[in-house]
Amino acid sequence: RDAEGRKVFDLRAAPGKHRLRPGRPTATWGLNGSYLGPTLRAARGETVRVNVRNGLRETTSLHWHGMHLPARMDGGPHQPVKPGATWSPTWTIDQPAATLWYHPHPHGETARHVYRGLAGMFILDDPKTPKTGPTGGALPSRYGVDDIPVIVQDKRLDDANQLDESHPRMSEVGLLGDVICVNGTTGPHHPVTTERVRLRLLNASNARIYRFGFADDRPFALVGTDGGLLPAPYKTTRIQLSPAERAEIVVTLRPGERAVLRSFPPDLGLNLWDRRFAGGDDALDILELRAARALEPSPRLPDELAPAPALAPRTTAVDRKFELSGFTINGKSMDMRRIDFAVDLDATEVWEVTATDGTQHNFHVHDVQFQVLSVDGKPPPPELAGWKDTVHTRPGIPFRLAMRFRDHSDRDMPYMYHCHILYHEDQGLMGQFAVV
Ligand code: C2O
Ligand code: CU
Repeated sequence: RDAEGRKVFDLRAAPGKHRLRPGRPTATWGLNGSYLGPTLRAARGETVRVNVRNGLRETTSLHWHGMHLPARMDGGPHQPVKPGATWSPTWTIDQPAATLWYHPHPHGETARHVYRGLAGMFILDDPKTPKTGPTGGALPSRYGVDDIPVIVQDKRLDDANQLDESHPRMSEVGLLGDVICVNGTTGPHHPVTTERVRLRLLNASNARIYRFGFADDRPFALVGTDGGLLPAPYKTTRIQLSPAERAEIVVTLRPGERAVLRSFPPDLGLNLWDRRFAGGDDALDILELRAARALEPSPRLPDELAPAPALAPRTTAVDRKFELSGFTINGKSMDMRRIDFAVDLDATEVWEVTATDGTQHNFHVHDVQFQVLSVDGKPPPPELAGWKDTVHTRPGIPFRLAMRFRDHSDRDMPYMYHCHILYHEDQGLMGQFAVV
């Protein structure tokens, strides 16, 4: 903490050598280490300050994905950090407990910077959320013991174990790797010592869409999404995450057993041909959970977790429409000097987002967490019932999103909205809005 009582974090981006898999180490980038960065953690009401030092030989930035904060602290393309420079944003946490993350956002270079290893988790706690549900039960919450960050990325490595950064010829989404890394480790396993474990899944990949489930199809409870806990645990066997989306799941193990978290072929909404080149046929093992012979008992899950988002009635008119097509939004490609529109401070708006070019995209909005009002005119499925900041937009399906712009306004400094398939983002599938 500093003299003003702020919680201070120091991050330094620098090149490193990282043992991604056996054999030669891989030339990577990391924050305070050779690959990825530390998990930052803060509670609602706390004021944080992060000293972001750039030890690279090129300009980067660091964006707090999912965070509600002033535009000047956002770490997007308008907050570049030059080589050797330090950028120290500060803001007060004011949003529910959630699994957020941070990653670079330099315009046109985000894919490469994230791929090389600059990313980390940012966990928020909310002291106002009771630890136990109204009728008992509790979520596993001992970090590293029964509450585990799972940062999932795919890499392509050459024969010398170096990152292959070339753009694949057939892919419309950019780089898809066949080597899975979890928290920067290949072939990962995790020793489980408690009956239940909570996995905070983060898709920190450039383009790959994962459809997580267990190899033996055991059910698990989905308890949280991008911006916080769900209204209630949702029992399922699959959860699909596109780049930047998060899911918190709780799985139960029996003593001595092994459970393999896998990614099954995702539903991309594409035809057979396109699907193949977008990773739609791929099944990949992600992480093996190895339960000890004796497991510490865990409390049962609460029946209720958090209030459901309630921003707007389901009949609200659409304020803005966004057509994602090629590398454009509504026919326009990202221009750092153009603010596409302004929204009023304290306004609740309904945005309708559709991928109209026959391919899949996703859609992320800075500063806010939104409520999914409808998907293709129908109420959202249970996994979209909580706060979200990123949604996977399968081709031709309109998503209606309600969001409220509160607390921070700035005429001159915009926030971004964009596709989080990083190749698309870098190519210009991004726009800017100001809150005024
Ligand atoms: Cu995760 Cu605009 O970014
Ligand atoms: Cu896209």
